[in-house]
Amino acid sequence: MAKKYKVTPWEVSGEIDYDRLIKEFGVKPLDEKILERMEKHTGELHYFLKRKIFFAHTYFDTVLDQAEKKNKFYLYTGRAPSGPVHLGHLVPWIFCKWLQDKFDVNLLFQIPDEEKFLFNENLTLEDTKKWAHENILDIIAVGFDPKKTRIFLDTEYAGVMYKHACRIAKKVTFSTAKSIFGFTDSNNLGEIFYTSMQSVPAFLPTILEGKTTYCLIPCAIDQQPHFFLTNDVAPKLGYPKTATILARFLPGLQGMHQEGKMSSSVESTTIFTTETPEQVRNKINKYAFSGGRETTEEHRKHGGNPDIDVSYQYLTYFLEDSAQLKKIYDDYKSGKMLTGELKQITIQVINKFLKEHQSRREKAKGMVEKFMMRG
Ligand code: TRP
Repeated sequence: MAKKYKVTPWEVSGEIDYDRLIKEFGVKPLDEKILERMEKHTGELHYFLKRKIFFAHTYFDTVLDQAEKKNKFYLYTGRAPSGPVHLGHLVPWIFCKWLQDKFDVNLLFQIPDEEKFLFNENLTLEDTKKWAHENILDIIAVGFDPKKTRIFLDTEYAGVMYKHACRIAKKVTFSTAKSIFGFTDSNNLGEIFYTSMQSVPAFLPTILEGKTTYCLIPCAIDQQPHFFLTNDVAPKLGYPKTATILARFLPGLQGMHQEGKMSSSVESTTIFTTETPEQVRNKINKYAFSGGRETTEEHRKHGGNPDIDVSYQYLTYFLEDSAQLKKIYDDYKSGKMLTGELKQITIQVINKFLKEHQSRREKAKGMVEKFMMRG
């Protein structure tokens, strides 16, 4: 029986069948051919690509065409500030930094502080602005180049964005918005308009450069419906179609099948970027869903299942060494490695990653204005 899941920009639930989602969203798999073509420019492939964490795209070939002609394109991504940043949020940003370094390109980073205000009854504009400030530290900590990166809050940069958003909104009927996002009579007016604000930065490269300039958006696949709309409008306004490169979701500690993607609203099974090594250890030990057997004896005899084990899945995101990863996979599957040992490795890998992130996050406090575009 087909599995049940839901993927929209505002709700991700159930166990996602990514192959089916590719078809439903009308996107393309990142196949060997396009990866080979990419490698000609980047010299190597990020392990997120080899492990299919980034697994799909739209129009990525048009961006590679530009790179082949030595034309610069822009990167664009974003973060709606509704709470603290967790490990799942960092995945597209880490990849984005890699792309920035490899292609030597500019990045626009949108913080739609109005989005979470409009879509969440409990948040005020003051709350989302406060979270924006906190989240910006995590964004800077990823290591983007301050000379090539511009971060902006929608409520501050609206003076530049608003007229472009109006041009976009004029080209989208309510019926189209309903069919893309499933809006109903109970959605508020701001929610319906918001998508035009998320489209604007895809056109900003051309607007800022004063000539046709392509845009590549690295993001999790739940954002694709916005950019489907962007591309419906692009030719009508004389802009090139925007490209996207799309990631899977990092599961919460209980696993995709039990709780879906990692989510700030479920604190106990989420690892936030500011957590201490002890907090990380306790959470993983206590909550990480295990692919191990009931008893040590059975585990030794029949082996574990790394494919459903959340600690193992986290290693695929945060352990770069592919040879070591394969050994862990094999040892766990054969029963040589126990769940406790696997968890210890994951705890170490994540704590090492967070230690470095946290030290860069501290330094980021003095760097904010170097990155901001305040309208
Ligand atoms: N809507 C995104 C979120 O909920 C934020 C966002 C704005 C974004 N622009 C983007 C995400 C571009 C990816 C790419 O977090």
